[in-house]
Amino acid sequence: MTRGLWVTFEGGDGAGKTTQASLLEQWLRAQGRTVVRTREPGGTEVGVLIRDIVLHHRGEVSPRAEALLYAADRAQHVATLVRPALERGEVVIQDRYLDSSVAYQGAGRVLDAPQVRKLSLWAAEGALPDVTVLLDLDPAAARRRLDAADKPFDRLEAERSEFHERVRAAFLDLASAEPDRFLVLDAALPAGELADTIRTHISSRLS
Ligand code: TYD
Repeated sequence: MTRGLWVTFEGGDGAGKTTQASLLEQWLRAQGRTVVRTREPGGTEVGVLIRDIVLHHRGEVSPRAEALLYAADRAQHVATLVRPALERGEVVIQDRYLDSSVAYQGAGRVLDAPQVRKLSLWAAEGALPDVTVLLDLDPAAARRRLDAADKPFDRLEAERSEFHERVRAAFLDLASAEPDRFLVLDAALPAGELADTIRTHISSRLS
């Protein structure tokens, strides 16, 4: 669908997605590119309301309800923000997309992963990113980073380590199924080194 370039960042909580997305954004802006920086859940006004439910609701949210909430956020986000930006020829840099649903709701919550993917593809009218950067990190190392950041855990972050192990394995499976879309990086490497590799990869896609 694109005229612009759509880059998503994926990985477990604490893998450094936000840091790398920011560094890429700064670098592209410095080159005069128009960049839309966004995230799921919560990239739109409707999405902000959904984000509050999925991440902070105190009572039970059933796994299927959770999957549908993420899909609803995605539908609104792609239709009203991502697709229009790409049609204008802009670069969209996004924290998380449908691979997160397949990994967290599919493998983490143990729903049927192909069904979760289908649901998201329906929500987003089949839209897939040009490049997905997967920051792969051992969940124990990720947990140490989150502990050091000293922020309260959201509903997903608070899940047990087996949940996060399943999520990690699912991301790696997704990446090996679509090697052309994914750039898989070892998130334990220094941030500067990761940023350089990402820039090189994105440059080749922009030229
Ligand atoms: P994120 O915005 O990365 O959290 P933070 O603000 O702490 O950096 O993601 C929020 C959580 O939502 C994260 O634990 C993963 C989860 N998530 C899903 O379970 N499914 C999805 O489809 C998406 C997009 C996120």
